[in-house]
Amino acid sequence: MMSTLNPSITPLNKIQITPKSLTNLKRTLIRCSATSSSKRYNITLLPGDGIGPEVVSVAKNVLTLAGSQQGIEFEFREMPVGGAALDLVGVPLPDETLSVAKQSDAILLGAIGGYKWDNNEKHLKPETGLLQLRAGLGVFANLRPATVLPQLVDSSTLKKEVAEGVDLMVVRELTGGIYFGQPRGFGKNEKGEEIGFNTEVYATYEIDRIARVAFETARKRRGKLCSVDKANVLEASMLWRKRVTMMASHYPDVELTHMYVDNAAMQLIRDPKQFDTIVTNNIFGDILSDEASMLTGSIGMLPSACLGESGPGLFEPIHGSAPDIAGQDKANPLATVLSVAMLLRYGLQEENAARTIENAVLETLNKGFRTGDIFSTGKKLLGCKEIGEEVMKSVGSQEKVSAVVC
Ligand SMILES: NC(=O)c1ccc[n+]([C@@H]2O[C@H](COP(=O)([O-])OP(=O)(O)OC[C@H]3O[C@@H](n4cnc5c(N)ncnc54)[C@H](O)[C@@H]3O)[C@@H](O)[C@H]2O)c1
Repeated sequence: MMSTLNPSITPLNKIQITPKSLTNLKRTLIRCSATSSSKRYNITLLPGDGIGPEVVSVAKNVLTLAGSQQGIEFEFREMPVGGAALDLVGVPLPDETLSVAKQSDAILLGAIGGYKWDNNEKHLKPETGLLQLRAGLGVFANLRPATVLPQLVDSSTLKKEVAEGVDLMVVRELTGGIYFGQPRGFGKNEKGEEIGFNTEVYATYEIDRIARVAFETARKRRGKLCSVDKANVLEASMLWRKRVTMMASHYPDVELTHMYVDNAAMQLIRDPKQFDTIVTNNIFGDILSDEASMLTGSIGMLPSACLGESGPGLFEPIHGSAPDIAGQDKANPLATVLSVAMLLRYGLQEENAARTIENAVLETLNKGFRTGDIFSTGKKLLGCKEIGEEVMKSVGSQEKVSAVVC
């Protein structure tokens, strides 16, 4: 169970920002505006550190406006996490923050971390707060879309013909595998030399539940799922492949393939368009999702979702706290705005509002507005707040269109 408002993890709706779907998007999202609020959701805001508060502030405004057009109201509670929490109460994840987050319908996180806390002991690092948050929420599935938008195709480091049209989703297992497996530690080998060791371990239930999320996600995209493992060497991967293959019988509409991780890393650069949905374990997903996101060339544009079997989902941009530009109104808030669209779709099953936001982002880019990280000659350079205002205008203009149509 996702929450009382989110009856299960299965209704993962598909509307990806694909170049093909762009032309139809405006028409499909037009609907008579519902001005009287009929639904209310509690959202926990965790702005965090660095540019986190700047981008969360923009995303909150966009969420509020897009929601109001669909008759949705939000109640926000802002809580400290990361460095901000360390400064306030001395721990990176206060109990109250986790408790409020768990009771909400969805959580929006900005980013955590910064130079100030870099030399803290491990348990007092902002990053520890983020790991505790994910563990505390039990979010085991990390969804990271990597879409090369036509407006930003030149930002990719790949050749245009390779990058154009890329639209894939990495589903990464987030709470198991070698990052958590026991035994782990340091010791000595038989020659008395120092060793460090970790354990890659997966139980069937862990594989089954991430496979289910991946099949559901693929089913609502283009129906193709590639499971990435190292089954030619690792026993944990052999079990992974066996269980994913077994799960496929429940999803006859999804085409399942398997790929070794070394090949997958290569194929992502060689021909990324071959992928629709990728499912993989924690460590391979960590690496491949970063690789996939860099295909787009724009860290400031990429959202993510972390989902569990029950309780609220955690939605966040993939970038960090960018201390080098924090407080200068230079941050690109669009990754966080798109994270809010994922929050609506995967966390609250509010597809129309999600599409409204995605469409508004595309419209803003179509008008030539850019922040510094995605700027190119001939475009209009805006700050974080200004580009947020442009997205708001686009959201607002969609309401006007719907009023005319009605
Ligand atoms: N989920 C998270 O909260 C998260 C993720 C990654 C890193 N971090 C933390 O963030 C801090 C900085 O890490 P980093 O520098 O390696 O990664 P980063 O993502 O913060 O920054 C990398 C580069 O990208 C730029 N950048 C990032 N987001 C941007 C945006 N929205 N708009 C414009 N430019 C943007 C930055 O200015 C910087 O040049 C560290 O403390 C790290 O631990 C947090």
